[in-house]
Amino acid sequence: MFEVNKVRADFPILSRQIYGKPLVYLDNAATTQKPKCVVDAITDEYYSVNANVHRGVHFLSMAATELHEQARQTVARFIGATEPKEIVFTRGTTESINLIASSLRSYLGGKGGEVIISTKEHHSNIVPWQLNGFTLKTFRTIADYECLFTPDTKMVSVTHVSNVLGEVTPLDEIVRIAHSHGVPVLIDGAQSVPHFPVNVHDIGCDFFVFSGHKVYGPTGIGVLYGKEKWLDRLPPYQGGGEMIKTVTIEKSTFEDLPLKFEAGTPDYIGSHALAIALDYLEILGRENIHHHEQCLTQYALRRMQEVDGLKVFGCPDDAVISFQVGDIHPLDLGTLLDRLGIAIRTGHHCAQPLMRELGVEGTARLSFAMYNTEEEVDALISAIQRVKGMF
Ligand code: ALA
Repeated sequence: MFEVNKVRADFPILSRQIYGKPLVYLDNAATTQKPKCVVDAITDEYYSVNANVHRGVHFLSMAATELHEQARQTVARFIGATEPKEIVFTRGTTESINLIASSLRSYLGGKGGEVIISTKEHHSNIVPWQLNGFTLKTFRTIADYECLFTPDTKMVSVTHVSNVLGEVTPLDEIVRIAHSHGVPVLIDGAQSVPHFPVNVHDIGCDFFVFSGHKVYGPTGIGVLYGKEKWLDRLPPYQGGGEMIKTVTIEKSTFEDLPLKFEAGTPDYIGSHALAIALDYLEILGRENIHHHEQCLTQYALRRMQEVDGLKVFGCPDDAVISFQVGDIHPLDLGTLLDRLGIAIRTGHHCAQPLMRELGVEGTARLSFAMYNTEEEVDALISAIQRVKGMF
């Protein structure tokens, strides 16, 4: 049984007011709020365990290392990875994709090649490939997708859930077709991991990436899962301490997985706090969270139909709804809703190619987390009606 009001009590920020109005936070696809257990884990570790990891023989360093490596195990378990060494900590989804794009380019001898993406990708799944000399080919439908493979296709890289449309990508087909061409698949899970159970084995992908801050964890920590055979093959991304076995002035050799990809002092406080966030989701029940958010999404879609002139973009499956209200510019709508205590995101949502496809410059977007309620949806609809009345 999922008790949303009990859950809300775990998130101190939800009880604050904005311009004298109760906060209605509907910008969770940008970042989620943090439960007390996550914030406490950060403070507790700084107060009682803090020391650099993987380097010390002293008590605190060993304790901090243990928390960091336990966090890796928690992440592996959470996404169904077989081995903790297949989990690399990064700064977030963006850095994870940059890592793969850069290491893949080095692996290919600096030559680049073609990468297939969907038209719905976030800029973080577009620009890293461009910067590393890859040519992008895009698809809208599975039929388009099948036609894009050539002998020069090096990777398929797609979002699991669109951060604009809330649509879930049919990964079974995507992965099956890519593998039938011998092409590896990277999944951007930034908008899926927070909402429903994800199992990288069931998906069958070669790489899977997500961000801690979108899944109730801290900012600055993220995850790259890679199949061992791929991570073994790819050269390191950055050089520095921790990632080497030996260094001479002429040449260096590199650590085994996953440390080969973790140059410098890692965010060991962040990794532990992320693990606390993931444990928190497990305790509440990921299916329960999914069910709650699905009901909210359906409720919001029903209530939005009551607003004359409100158009929803795409067919949202999950927790994210992009919309437009008549001729009201999304920026005006977002600004006026903010004055009524309601936080949504407006603009291109870091997905300019998708905006072009939709024929708009931007949209208004609401996005749910586990702590949102039907009452908040009602507050949003009343506020939209009020804003409409001003135009
Ligand atoms: N990628 C985040 C969003 O969609 C920031 O809002």
